[in-house]
Amino acid sequence: MSTITLSKSDAAGVKTDAVVIGVVKLGGGVTLPAGTESLNAAYGGKLVEVLSDLGATGKSGEVTKVPGPKPAKSPSLIAVGLGPAPDGELKTEDLRAAAGTGVRAAKTAHSVALALPTPDAECIRAVAEGALLGRYSFTAYKSESPSDVPGNLIVLTDLARTKEAKAALERAEVTADAVHQVRDWVNTPPSDLHPVEFAAQALKLGKEYGVKVEVLDEKALAKGGYGGILGVGQGSTNPPRLVRLSYTPKKPVTHLAFVGKGITFDSGGLSLKTSTGMVSMKSDMAGAAAVIGATVAIARLGLPVQVTAYAAMAENMPSGSAARPSDVLNMYGGKTVEVLNTDAEGRLVLGDALVRASEDEPDLIIDVATLTGACVVALGTKVAGAFANTDAARDRVVDAAVTAGEAMWPLPIPSEMLDKLKSHSKVADLANITGEPWGGALAAAAFLGDFVAEGIDWVHLDVAGPAFNDGGPSGYTPTGGTGYAVRTLVELAASAS
Ligand code: BES
Ligand code: MN
Ligand code: ZN
Repeated sequence: MSTITLSKSDAAGVKTDAVVIGVVKLGGGVTLPAGTESLNAAYGGKLVEVLSDLGATGKSGEVTKVPGPKPAKSPSLIAVGLGPAPDGELKTEDLRAAAGTGVRAAKTAHSVALALPTPDAECIRAVAEGALLGRYSFTAYKSESPSDVPGNLIVLTDLARTKEAKAALERAEVTADAVHQVRDWVNTPPSDLHPVEFAAQALKLGKEYGVKVEVLDEKALAKGGYGGILGVGQGSTNPPRLVRLSYTPKKPVTHLAFVGKGITFDSGGLSLKTSTGMVSMKSDMAGAAAVIGATVAIARLGLPVQVTAYAAMAENMPSGSAARPSDVLNMYGGKTVEVLNTDAEGRLVLGDALVRASEDEPDLIIDVATLTGACVVALGTKVAGAFANTDAARDRVVDAAVTAGEAMWPLPIPSEMLDKLKSHSKVADLANITGEPWGGALAAAAFLGDFVAEGIDWVHLDVAGPAFNDGGPSGYTPTGGTGYAVRTLVELAASAS
């Protein structure tokens, strides 16, 4: 893990392996933001000309590398596109992405200084987050690899000595730690992160940071009547778990409940997926990982918000003991569900967990789940769907996501969807599918909503697209697990304080 510090050093005077600066698109050309004056002077006032000659346009994601000014303090200068600033205002997300792009372009450079615009603490946090998140790599299973890219990151800012800047840095470090943990969990092969191991790791992490963790094993789940979690897990030799984390500060201003889908591998069960449909399904526990990571981060930051989190963990496998299509599960709380497609398993484990979370009477429940391929069809791979039982609760979460720089878009839960789920089963209270191909993400949301107690605000985040990146890295987002939703949940807690 890289260390990160703040410094008032000048971009031209700092001694590092690489300095990252921003390039802003302006009309047909480019311009350099404040904070780069001394660097420009070190290039004889020709830095814009040099960058333009090398083809820099200021486009977001663009990297232009130049040797450092002579006599060299830093051997390399990395200019990163900040995108156009049409309203003259910098968006923190552009800074976060630019910092990530710059750090990735610096590759194995031991130390990297970031001379990006930091007019306030929010911008400092964005730069620090982007830099830390951009440094992530998952090499645990590579036999020949540097164990970690070591070294230090330095955020150059005039505000380095202020209280606000230090708090911003701490928030960035704690948040990035949590995101890295989530990415590691998601990237770990499913044979090494089955429910038993995942629960054990949550327990260990909770202990380390003063979060109370209770684990229900298969016996406790049977005793408690958690038919959804048990039904999904019964086909696997790795038994299921329900993990409950709680953080209770002295005078909480509100009580948030998080619920995460923790399918450590989703083969589809007897309704088996295709071989290509299965390859990225180690990521089907990303929701559980995100709620655990966020809860620990909120506790580490000491935010005055009570958090109770449930991570519903199971492995969805076909076998002689697996649930069959047409089996009926007795869910926690008493509802019965006919399983007509064993691949619609996320809603089954979440149903149990949502009923259990409702019993704690929180002010707001947020669930995070890689729930449906249909949501990816609707919104693509970068944007999560946000569903809710009240517009106000949904807006609160979407606003937090915008502030945190995580793409999210509202989707509806039409009442016909629950009607279809109910009428599709001839034997139980409801089926786990509607039997129609349309609006699959909406149907899944309707199913979940039926397990939330009346009167409790609830928001469902379908993160099937953004939780896992099948493509190449970009900005601060690596290939593989992304850690999506951690930043939104931490922001939600921070903005409630
Ligand atoms: N884990 C999948 C959803 C998913 C798909 C996540 C693609 C990430 C990428 C989920 O359990 C699932 O299989 N959903 C089915 C539901 C269907 C059977 C009603 C789906 O989306 O096809
Ligand atoms: Mn599935
Ligand atoms: Zn799944």
